[in-house]
Amino acid sequence: MADPAAPTASGQYFEAEPAAAAAPRTIAVNIAGMRLSFSTDSGVFSPDRLDAGTRLLLLEAPPLGADDRSVLDLGCGWGPIACFTGLRFPASEVLAVDVNQRALRLTAANAEANGTDNVTVAHPDEVSPTRRFDRILCNPPIRVGKAALREMLAAWLDRLTAGGRAHLVVHRHLGSDSLARWLADRGHEATRLVSRSGYRLLEVGPRGP
Ligand SMILES: C[S@@+](CC[C@H](N)C(=O)[O-])C[C@H]1O[C@@H](n2cnc3c(N)ncnc32)[C@H](O)[C@@H]1O
Repeated sequence: MADPAAPTASGQYFEAEPAAAAAPRTIAVNIAGMRLSFSTDSGVFSPDRLDAGTRLLLLEAPPLGADDRSVLDLGCGWGPIACFTGLRFPASEVLAVDVNQRALRLTAANAEANGTDNVTVAHPDEVSPTRRFDRILCNPPIRVGKAALREMLAAWLDRLTAGGRAHLVVHRHLGSDSLARWLADRGHEATRLVSRSGYRLLEVGPRGP
């Protein structure tokens, strides 16, 4: 399996300021009848193509409903989830967060270039702890390690609204099944919606009482 998340000699995609020298490029992405152009760069996740897991998430996560206004793109990278979701659901407000400043700059530029005016971009520390989300969409940063990954997911999943749902895509070789068990142990209803080409799309509800 090609792994776009594999670390490179020049650093990791989740560094605050990537060590990799900038190598800006433009890629086209076709999905669900939409063709968008994105600026990407070295030092961010999957800079040369839309990741296969992200594609699965975008195609298979249930569409936003009328009540799903507040959406979080958790770990936005160069912004494919935020941009496609913002364009497809113009009534939604999409917040894209990442710890990687290069990723935040790219997502902001891509949202503007694609006319997505309902996307805002922020570092996680800039988001009010009282903000809640009806939907969280995430291709999680498995490479940060299990403890950091779980800490990140716990913090944001606790911000789901009562009727909210998160959709996470994880490859089974990268721990999707143990992640699902951990979520269930934590009190979340976690359902496998789709299993394809090794990827699992998990639907996660708010933590139970
Ligand atoms: C697997 S990539 C997915 C990127 C993008 N959503 C996509 O699908 O192409 C995960 C992203 O999570 C970011 N990340 C890592 N740790 C994070 C944290 N604690 N909070 C928010 N984002 C984080 C990484 O920098 C990376 O951009």
